[in-house]
Amino acid sequence: MEYREFKRLGVKTSLLGFGCMRLPTLTGPADIDEREAVRMIRYGIDRGINYVDTAWGYHEEMSQPLVAKALAGGYRQKTYLATKLPCWLVTKPEDLDFYLNEQLRRCGTDHIDFYLLHALDQGRWNNLMKVDVLHFLERAKRDGRIRFAGFSFHDKLATFKTIVDAYPFDMAQIQLNYLDQDLQAGLEGMRYAAERGTDVVVMEPLKGGQLTHKLPQKALEILDASHENLSAAAWAFKWVAHHPEIKVILSGMSSMEQLEENLRIFEHLPAQNLTALQAQTLEKVRTYLNSRIKVPCTDCQYCLPCPHNVFIPKIFEQYNRGSIFGDYTGPRGFYQSLVGDGQDASACVACGACEAACPQHLSIIELLRKADKALA
Ligand SMILES: NC(=O)c1ccc[n+]([C@@H]2O[C@H](COP(=O)([O-])OP(=O)(O)OC[C@H]3O[C@@H](n4cnc5c(N)ncnc54)[C@H](OP(=O)(O)O)[C@@H]3O)[C@@H](O)[C@H]2O)c1
Repeated sequence: MEYREFKRLGVKTSLLGFGCMRLPTLTGPADIDEREAVRMIRYGIDRGINYVDTAWGYHEEMSQPLVAKALAGGYRQKTYLATKLPCWLVTKPEDLDFYLNEQLRRCGTDHIDFYLLHALDQGRWNNLMKVDVLHFLERAKRDGRIRFAGFSFHDKLATFKTIVDAYPFDMAQIQLNYLDQDLQAGLEGMRYAAERGTDVVVMEPLKGGQLTHKLPQKALEILDASHENLSAAAWAFKWVAHHPEIKVILSGMSSMEQLEENLRIFEHLPAQNLTALQAQTLEKVRTYLNSRIKVPCTDCQYCLPCPHNVFIPKIFEQYNRGSIFGDYTGPRGFYQSLVGDGQDASACVACGACEAACPQHLSIIELLRKADKALA
């Protein structure tokens, strides 16, 4: 296992980190298979993983108590523990202390190593600034409840840069994989943060499990044609590991087999490990996957707010996701949540306000109809 250094912090972390958002479950997301999950986390730590990532909301609030059990008996001392402030629940300054103290209790520890503002976007960032979150982080560092402060991120690059510039964060957690190089913070954000001393942790390196054997057949054939004898997951990890700015690659492993495979893969993943030929192969896969996109929406959100509350870019994102991977199961599930909130395409009255605003000149009304047909 390679260890990379957060230079400013003097901390060395294992390149593979354990993401505790997709632990094995029994009857539903909150019903974690405790024995197996504890066994897996300890197995990973025994074989070199020293970074464990959890959060308030994972597994319907059951991930942190599970992590506490897994890290009992000496494992906490071998681990950098990362967890996150549920920013969307914060309405007043006192909430900041409440959620941190409660999370210390749930995680069974007296300090968090990496405390992140969870899933920041522009709106959440604005709200947190109103409750003086930066002073709170300073105070929590001083009194020892947290060692390092960071944030995880899901919004546009410009917002990412604003946040990086606002405070010398110790780390930033971004979504990055060979398909999502330009999505959200992307490669440019990664470099921007690293140049300013904010090291990067990556989430969704396998795009939540899609850049694996679940790839469309043609994409798998492109990988096979290279005769590299690597699994699709290994290809995806290899691409992320190639960037020295990245200190930890989090994977949410749902079974012992996946954990064992990932440990094997990371035994052979030094930095700068991707040859030019291998990079070309992945670029071919990326081009192929992008050719399956149904709607060339760039998520600029000029179409929002829709007067009838239709969440246009989100619908197109899910439509594209289903088409790229030839599997609409996940996108349909997500679409149901939009239906519940009255934000799905059936709320469209074809007023055309979105089409007038769209810089890509998309026929949004017609495309929404098609998306609805695929997703509803
Ligand atoms: N802060 C945030 O906003 C945020 C958002 C997302 C994630 N995260 C954190 O980042 C972590 C990593 O993200 P992620 O879980 O999306 O990572 P990921 O590695 O992209 O996806 C994990 C999924 O990939 C599949 N998988 C893993 N290893 C595999 C292998 N060797 N072969 C085949 N399939 C494999 C499994 O899915 P199947 O079981 O379906 O096969 C697993 O559940 C999360 O666990 C969480 O801790 C944070």
